[in-house]
Parts: sequence; structure tokens; C-alpha cells
Amino acid sequence: MRLLVIVAVFATACATSTGSLKPGGPMDTAENPIVQTGNPVLRARAKDVPVEQIGTPEFQQLLVRMTEAMRKAPGVGLAAPQLGVSLRVLVLEDRSELQAALTPTELAERERVPVPLRVFINPTLTPIGDDKVTFFEGCLSVSGYAALVGRWREVEVSGLDEKGQPQTWRVKGWPARILQHEVDHLDGTLYIDRMVSRSFGTLPQVKALYGGKPITDVKSTFGVE
Ligand code: CO
Repeated sequence: MRLLVIVAVFATACATSTGSLKPGGPMDTAENPIVQTGNPVLRARAKDVPVEQIGTPEFQQLLVRMTEAMRKAPGVGLAAPQLGVSLRVLVLEDRSELQAALTPTELAERERVPVPLRVFINPTLTPIGDDKVTFFEGCLSVSGYAALVGRWREVEVSGLDEKGQPQTWRVKGWPARILQHEVDHLDGTLYIDRMVSRSFGTLPQVKALYGGKPITDVKSTFGVE
């Protein structure tokens, strides 16, 4: 709720922004501001955000742009490099309407539950335990495709929130996957670097062939343990 208010407040400032934190990808258009794979900004290690920058209108406008781009796509997470901004910032949000296409079994297997909007600035991620889980995953910067990716089941992420306050979140399941995916972006890593490459497919194929199937069946199709 707190975050939504912040977004609403800064959304009005966004329209008149001429700040330096501009989106910069060659694929950047009004329709799709999300930088696509091939652009080196997705392969650079993003820089830490100076704490004193967090309260500036420019930086807060970046958070608004990221949130809007994530929701419009729609996606469940976005990292600043995906808007051409090489800073260590991520947003995530998993709304229930985005989960409507999944069966209760799929949601349970993924430990996927609605997650309200969260911002992490300068995050550090630590795996918890030894459990890894494998599911199909996509990326707004590799538009139109998905592949099986193994991720830690549970992680702890520490960093700053949108007000520059320290925060730590220990979480398992789908939000843990989103966090690993987005923190990877800040290090110049894409899921295609970690995927089971033989499972790489177009989204329509993946949805048609594997949607609603138990993950054990899907994994056995590709010979994944
Ligand atoms: Co991504």
C-alpha cells in the first residue's frame, strides 16, 4: 500500500522528466521501452546507487518507469539495466491476475503466491539451504522465449528500499526465483546463461506443450534430474 502511494505520487512527475536516468537501448520505443538481449547494457555489471541519490526526483522517476514498464509488459520483475540504466535497482510484483492462467497444482509446485510491489536497491543475495528447483522461466529482455532454469528454492536478499532504508527479505518459491533472476541482471547475467539449453523454446510452444503439466513430466521430457 505504502509503495503504491509512492508510485501514484511520482507518476505525475514522470511525464515531464528530462533527467539523466533515461532509457537508452536502441530498441527503446514508446511501445517497448525494455532493452532486448544483444545490447551490452544487459551484460555490464551495474553500478551501486549512491545512497544520497535515492531521494532525488530523478531516481524516484526511474522507480516509477521501472514499475510501469513491468506492469505494462506484463512481467513480475524488472532490473534497471532493462531500461538502459546501469544501476543496481530491481522491482518485483506478482499480482494474482498474472497467476490466473496457472492451475492450482502449478501454483503449488512453484510456491507461487501474490507478492505486492517491492523495490530493492544495491541488493545482495544469499542462497538458503541446498534445495534447487527447476521450472520454465522467461525474460522481458529475451522477448518471446522460455527455458527450464534451476534456481535456489530459498534466498535471503538484503538491500535498501525505495526510501533508502535497509531491508532484508528471506523468501522461498517463485519470489525467490524472481529475485535470483533480477539480481543476475545487475551482474550482467541472463537466464539464457543458466538455462537447460535443450529446453529453450518459444512461449507459444512452451505454453501449448507444457502448460498444466506436472513439472516432473516436463523435466523428464528434457532429461533433467
Ligand atoms: Co529478465
